[in-house]
Amino acid sequence: MTKIRAAITAVHGELPEKRLTNKDLEKMVDTNDEWITSRTGIKERRRVSEGEVFSDFGAKIVTKICEKRGISPLEIDMVIVGTITGDYVFPSTSNVICDKAGAKNAWGYDLAAACSGFIFSLTTGQQFVENGTAKKVIVIGGDVMSSIINYEDRATCIIFGDGFGGVLLEADDTGLGIQDAIMRADGSGRDFLIQKIGGSAEPITEGNVNSADRYVFQEGRTVFKHAVTNMAGVSAEIMEKNNLTGEDVDWLVPHQANLRIIDATAERMGLGREKVMINIEKFGNTTAGTIPLCLWEWEDKLKKGDNIVLSAFGGGFTWGAIYLKWAY
Ligand code: UT7
Repeated sequence: MTKIRAAITAVHGELPEKRLTNKDLEKMVDTNDEWITSRTGIKERRRVSEGEVFSDFGAKIVTKICEKRGISPLEIDMVIVGTITGDYVFPSTSNVICDKAGAKNAWGYDLAAACSGFIFSLTTGQQFVENGTAKKVIVIGGDVMSSIINYEDRATCIIFGDGFGGVLLEADDTGLGIQDAIMRADGSGRDFLIQKIGGSAEPITEGNVNSADRYVFQEGRTVFKHAVTNMAGVSAEIMEKNNLTGEDVDWLVPHQANLRIIDATAERMGLGREKVMINIEKFGNTTAGTIPLCLWEWEDKLKKGDNIVLSAFGGGFTWGAIYLKWAY
């Protein structure tokens, strides 16, 4: 009998309407369109409006995925949400999404792995489907980065945006679906990409509430170096482990942090740009949202059996790659 694998059977993305262009940022910090475009590849990003919250976008993702697949939200067993900017510290955004979408039979939780949040969540959902304890698992990745970005810090505000995407995982016994996953973490990188205040180590107090430490801090150059080495490295590693050459891979779905990191990863894998999903120019770095948003945008171009590598690097440090065969 063929091994049971977890396969993606539907995908959906959601973005806030409001745009923040490089020109807008020129009015906010000392930067310019030319610098941002040449150093990152980003032209604009999205930002939630007042009153828009993650769980509303997440509930739409659950609803649309169920509609696409012709199923009821009552059939969903689990919702796993990769994010570092959920609606609340607790309860989990998964619980709120399930309530808003009427997924009354589902349980779930949030998983914090920064930019690797979607791939860490996807391989977690994979386990439940493969071992038979869940039949239908929705995995969502997304972030409201604007809620933790300092719009006076040009080192971070030019990169990040808000966005959300999700997929449905179901069992497949025909050889399609997730073939392999390599996940890595190195907490010694924590000082280079961190939101210092707001956790239990440094709760918000009257004394620190106005400190810049309540926003994302990133030492860009150090993170960049680790991102290039590790994202390219783990992508090459999963190819070697599965005897794949550049010709065998139909699509690379890279985390969208910086176009130069994406290009370095594709080059290491022996792939031309035409096989790489890139939408960073429109949405910037939506942290856990980038990979499912790409899958959603490219869904029409994907063919059953396509060999796809998902790859990410982010805060923690966390990184990893997933090799899957597209199932529809
Ligand atoms: O999402 C997961 C994890 N994150 C990443 O993977 C992001 C990794 N890092 C990066 O993408 C890049 O490091 C950045 C885009 C954040 C920065 O680009 P960089 O090429 O590493 O720039 P830099 O920090 O080395 O700065 C180069 C110069 C500096 O000026 P001097 O010292 O050479 O005179 C900066 O002060 O560019 C200056 N600079 C800017 N100039 C205009 C830094 N930020 C800006 C800016 N606009 N926004």
